[in-house]
Amino acid sequence: MGRLISIASGKGGTGKTTTTANLSIALGKMGYRVCAVDADLTMANLSLVMGIDDASTTIHDVLAGNATIEEAIYATRYKNVHLIPASIDWEHVIRADPRKLPGIIKPLKEEFDFVIIDSPAGLQMDAMNATMSGEEVVLVTNPEISCITDTMKVGIVLKKAGLAVLGFVLNRYGRSDTDIPPDVAEEVMEVPLLAVIPEDPAVREATLEGMPVVEYKPKSDGAKAFMELAERITRIAGFKSRVMR
Ligand SMILES: Nc1ncnc2c1ncn2[C@@H]1O[C@H](COP(=O)(O)OP(=O)(O)OP(=O)(O)O)[C@@H](O)[C@H]1O
Ligand SMILES: [Mg+2]
Repeated sequence: MGRLISIASGKGGTGKTTTTANLSIALGKMGYRVCAVDADLTMANLSLVMGIDDASTTIHDVLAGNATIEEAIYATRYKNVHLIPASIDWEHVIRADPRKLPGIIKPLKEEFDFVIIDSPAGLQMDAMNATMSGEEVVLVTNPEISCITDTMKVGIVLKKAGLAVLGFVLNRYGRSDTDIPPDVAEEVMEVPLLAVIPEDPAVREATLEGMPVVEYKPKSDGAKAFMELAERITRIAGFKSRVMR
């Protein structure tokens, strides 16, 4: 039985989509069967980040009752990694019922070792529907105090809602002299620090190339940090993640 992991944050733009793509590919490289899901229904961009822009059937078609989930699963060019893409046009967005997300995503754990769910930021209904499709959650924050406290609040709510909070990723570290250091961030967050991902221009370059950094520049500091995140997550056994609730 596979694991369903949501990627969540308080503020937008912290690196959830980047983390979803790189974590999925890193787990794929380690030999796990992975399905990355674009559950950011209104601002979808996981497909672009992963280099797929021509999918004919998307998660929106499934949520509108016009396709089965199997029809929306695509093989990618990355080893062992599948993707459920989302549509970007408004016509599709308004026809999709976001409340159906957990019902269509949860059964995927029968088929994959890891299902990684890219969610919208915050705690609005769209974000909750996406995040609650998982059983475990990885929070993504930047090293700024308002970002950390917002992400902490999201962690508290998701824990109360029954998700196992595995911990958080401190992303884009080293951009500014005023960055909150990892140990202080961990104290504030009150959940384990899973990885520090440095600010790395290779991450953005990779996005422009439509190929996440673990594939584009595997030797870059950013890529190495995402590989370490994947290893850390595989070391947290399913049982432990359940008791951490
Ligand atoms: N470690 C990093 N170093 C440099 N740039 C990064 C890093 N992580 C993310 N970025 C860049 O930051 C931008 C925002 O990242 P991303 O789209 O993953 O955030 P998000 O949390 O998914 O945003 P949203 O809330 O809008 O969905 C992107 O341009 C991405 O390339
Ligand atoms: Mg995103």
